[in-house]
Amino acid sequence: MSTLVTGIAELVTNDPSLGDGQLGLVSEAAVVVDGGTVAWVGPAARAPEADERVDVGGRAVIPGFVDSHAHLVFAGDRSAEFEARMSGARYDGGGIGSTVAATREASDDALRARLRSLVAEMRGQGTTTVEVKSGYGLTVDDEARCLRLAAEVTPETTFLGAHVVPAEYAGRRDEYVDLVTGPMLAACAPYARWIDVFCEAASAHAFDGAAARAVLTAGRDAGLGLRVHANQLSAGPGVRLAVELGAASADHCTHLTDDDVDALAGGTTVATLLPGVEFSTRSPYPDARRLLSAGVTVALATDCNPGSCFTSSMAFCVALAVREMHMTAAEALWAATAGGAAALRRTDVGRLCPGARADLAVLEAPSFTHLAYRPGVPLVRALNVGYSGSGHPSR
Ligand code: NIG
Ligand code: FE
Repeated sequence: MSTLVTGIAELVTNDPSLGDGQLGLVSEAAVVVDGGTVAWVGPAARAPEADERVDVGGRAVIPGFVDSHAHLVFAGDRSAEFEARMSGARYDGGGIGSTVAATREASDDALRARLRSLVAEMRGQGTTTVEVKSGYGLTVDDEARCLRLAAEVTPETTFLGAHVVPAEYAGRRDEYVDLVTGPMLAACAPYARWIDVFCEAASAHAFDGAAARAVLTAGRDAGLGLRVHANQLSAGPGVRLAVELGAASADHCTHLTDDDVDALAGGTTVATLLPGVEFSTRSPYPDARRLLSAGVTVALATDCNPGSCFTSSMAFCVALAVREMHMTAAEALWAATAGGAAALRRTDVGRLCPGARADLAVLEAPSFTHLAYRPGVPLVRALNVGYSGSGHPSR
């Protein structure tokens, strides 16, 4: 059953061969969806026939957001930590331990319910692909169950046993790295596509360059793709290690040296910026313009987690990227869609061109620019229009 989606005032394809600029913009556009896949895009005046027709009434259509960095399997609440930060406390990752304790205590059903409600919250705001990390279990069994639950909602699952050194391993970091790279990795790899590590030069909680290298190479040997929490709290080895090992993404990139930027520009690793973290930890934002000028591929993601940033809104991150990091609205939207897809090494999402997944997000706006122009306003009116062939836009 094919569906012609028409009445699109502005269509973002992210395919420059289909329209104007980096976003491949088409005005007065139409899309044909067939079996959950985009079959045709172009000017409405040239649209082919289809089995049925949906008119979105002069709204903008964008590819669903690709949120390539989120921590959604957890229990507990850290709003008090946020309040303390707003009164001057610094974020150093130390609060992660309290989420670990609450997560270990929680039942599978409680974790699943929280995870599913966060994924639903994201979908309601236009996110159609999400990556989900473990990292709040930090025992063999708890990490494996967090990943098993994550795999119920997304194929983009990431093993983050090397999030912090848990309390019971205090002062025994090397032994914990042995656990992560040995039995924990073996138990988690069947449920994970990726491995990640929180790498910092000097942190009481995270992992230094040597430990991060051990974690990433073990993950690579187990067949996992690589991602790195890099250079969040200070400049350090994370970004260069990510590029050297061919990681798909170096995330945060808040504190970069010239060498880091050069490495990213010369490699295949996407720089994933998480401006919600700087907002929620009241920290200086990453220098997005420096990365873009160097030709680095930039993605935007939420980092949705109970500690450093508890937003599920990609639109909010787009608005922050424009207002605080001086990205254009087009650069920010590209980073939140095609950039996220690049960070997950996916070509079937983050764009609306023939063959791509029909993840259409219809905005209650005539143009994508409204995502930044109307911060905090829930602009996603419908998702996956024409996907089911029902003819009824659904949320
Ligand atoms: O990406 N930096 C490490 N991990 C998360 C925060 C997790 C937490 O504070 O609970 C981050 O910011
Ligand atoms: Fe994170």
